[in-house]
Amino acid sequence: MANTLTVTDNRTGKTYELPIENGTIRAIDLRQIRTFPEDFGLMTYDPAFTNTASCRSAITYIDGDKGILEYRGYPIEQLAEKSTYLEVAWLLLHGELPTRDELADFTRHITIHTYLHENTKKLMEGFRHDAHPMGMLLSTVGALSTFYPTAKKIFDVEERSHHVTRLISKIPTVAAFAYRHSIGFPYVYPDNELSYTGNFLSMMKKMAEPKYAVNAVLERALEVLFILHADHEQNCSTNAMRGVGSAHTDPYSCVAAATAALYGPLHGGANEAVLRMLREIKDVKNVPAFVKEVQSGSGEKRLMGFGHRVYKNYDPRAKVIKGMAEEVFEVTGKNPLLAVATELERIALQDDYFVKRKLYPNVDFYSGLIYQAMGFPLEIFTVLFAIPRTAGWLAHWSELLEQDQKIVRPRQVYTGTAARDYLAIESR
Ligand code: CMC
Repeated sequence: MANTLTVTDNRTGKTYELPIENGTIRAIDLRQIRTFPEDFGLMTYDPAFTNTASCRSAITYIDGDKGILEYRGYPIEQLAEKSTYLEVAWLLLHGELPTRDELADFTRHITIHTYLHENTKKLMEGFRHDAHPMGMLLSTVGALSTFYPTAKKIFDVEERSHHVTRLISKIPTVAAFAYRHSIGFPYVYPDNELSYTGNFLSMMKKMAEPKYAVNAVLERALEVLFILHADHEQNCSTNAMRGVGSAHTDPYSCVAAATAALYGPLHGGANEAVLRMLREIKDVKNVPAFVKEVQSGSGEKRLMGFGHRVYKNYDPRAKVIKGMAEEVFEVTGKNPLLAVATELERIALQDDYFVKRKLYPNVDFYSGLIYQAMGFPLEIFTVLFAIPRTAGWLAHWSELLEQDQKIVRPRQVYTGTAARDYLAIESR
């Protein structure tokens, strides 16, 4: 069996044989298909990358039909059960689970870089009192590039590793400061005796007590949520990270761009949108009417936390979160909106509209309920996604640089006016 695709151009009657590799043809191979010598050649049109592989990557594997997610070959369920976020971050970045010494060294480096330059604080103080923490996060992470100009040396492997560590280390601090600013509370400095998630909880919640007492169940729950959110191959924000990174931009600016992509309600912003939706529905008795409204609309009203470009089966991350919810609620008390969410899921999963389109709960459907039960306000939910995703973004960024990929520069189908002469203002 030849591993090629034969294409006949019916405009010219010519036939072309294109190689197939890894189930793909190279779009550039279509360029030879022309109708006349000066013809630019055939292109593909795929504005949302619905059927285009934009890179080769060895980091994360998803089988959307079977509901499989693996980081470097390890099933997400096993990592969520047995691993820690920092171990997973190392795995994503280096391709293998760390040895005991590697993990200890990585953890030490992450821990000693948690503090921010004091001027970062001043910068953050300039935001309005009610600034959205995601807006603050993306601006402040971008600003960090000015504090670390050596980050521009992106092909110096040692420098690169240094800034990767700094980013993973400092992003919880920036996130927590953004939150404290938005509620008018004093910033809490990192406590380097605590774990990655324990320290984050401390920076978010500590008040007058000399040391924040971390609840072990909540610390582990956050750890699991961080593991589940650490990477998800070529999603919108990772694509932004790779696109900006391909211009050889420093990693802080790249992470700022990726954070901006994550901010959108169709991406990381969905966890916040789910909670707003559940609040709007308010009561179990209003669920059927809401579902009807979604399915009878022309797509403008969506069931937030449902559907996924890749998963056409239950999102495996949603399964883990749903399973963990009970443990968290035992500590925090049940979230009253859980009943609305459960009923919404039950009705949607047997409704023809959702079944036909293979729309299942995604990672954001239940995560917000847990975050809310843990006492986090809505506005911080997407920030809680951005913190762990930083490791995934940086793994993709490093992979891109190692592959020496060209700058991302898509083509377009021009639909504008043909060339015309400038019209003086009095003649318009
Ligand atoms: N509620 C109602 N209808 C939906 C939904 C939804 N949540 N999602 C998709 N559809 C419909 C859509 O209207 C379309 O119907 P039709 O074929 O009649 O036009 C069909 O299902 C296919 O949808 P699509 O827009 O082509 O799917 P997509 O792959 O472009 O979009 C998505 C994927 C995640 C943006 C979309 O499912 C969505 O908007 N979901 C709600 C937002 C959400 O929960 N986002 C979080 C995603 S998971 C976290 C992350 O990785 O970012």
